[in-house]
Amino acid sequence: MTEPPLNSDRIPRHIAIIMDGNGRWAQARGISRNEGHKKGLEALRSVIRSANDLGVRWLTLYAFSLENWNRPKLEVASLMGLLERYLEIEIDEVMEKGIRLRSIGRPDRLPKRLQKKVDQAIERTQNNPNMTLVFALSYGGRSEIVDAARKLLRDAELGKIDPESLDEKTFAAYLYDPEVPDPDLLIRTGAELRVSNFLLWQIAYTEIYSTDVMWPDFGERELIDAVRDYQSRERRFGLTSEQVRGARDDSR
Ligand code: IPE
Ligand code: IPE
Ligand code: MG
Repeated sequence: MTEPPLNSDRIPRHIAIIMDGNGRWAQARGISRNEGHKKGLEALRSVIRSANDLGVRWLTLYAFSLENWNRPKLEVASLMGLLERYLEIEIDEVMEKGIRLRSIGRPDRLPKRLQKKVDQAIERTQNNPNMTLVFALSYGGRSEIVDAARKLLRDAELGKIDPESLDEKTFAAYLYDPEVPDPDLLIRTGAELRVSNFLLWQIAYTEIYSTDVMWPDFGERELIDAVRDYQSRERRFGLTSEQVRGARDDSR
């Protein structure tokens, strides 16, 4: 049976992905977790290309969580090495495709060399017009909220912000990258049904899609399946179905 084509009018503007399952993918093949991470890097390259081709405007990838620092030292070091290599290998293609890079997280814990490469890549790609690719690196959702609250308190102390006027929009302006819109679709590979401290503030009304596919096996076809599933959903944002359909009819 052939699948229906995607509706080009309803491509999610922002897709966020929890790229999980590299270790289990490798274990099932009797190879090292590190080999799984290497394969995961290939999947990442292909998904970035596919998302850009589909017309996705923002893609946020959970590459390394704050909790991941507690993994064995060797695994952490090899993940950092792989990320560095990714930036080296891919930067030219990223430029060619007009993709803009950003990062969110606590960069201070990253190896200096990686930090430098990330900064250089962000600077070099800053004026690119196509998809924005956001790497969540050394990232934690709760820490993002705490870091935002800290900056906000400092501004309040300086009299730059009046506590009474604080609202969601003002608060969101203190997050790591306030320009990034909330994700429309959150994809998690690797069969888990949890958010693992990812974008806690931003996913309030995000559609969630989980798949049993392990990250190294995730490619263009799997991305299209996820988008197709997204397109079958009705996003109600607390309204009734009738209200949502009415609003759609009105806007025609
Ligand atoms: C995701 O794969 C990659 C990172 C968290 C960096 P995992 O390494 O978590 O793979 P599993 O979950 O152990 O299979
Ligand atoms: C989430 O995967 C973090 C990344 C994909 C970078 P984990 O493998 O760390 O999540 P848990 O521990 O299973 O919740
Ligand atoms: Mg995992």
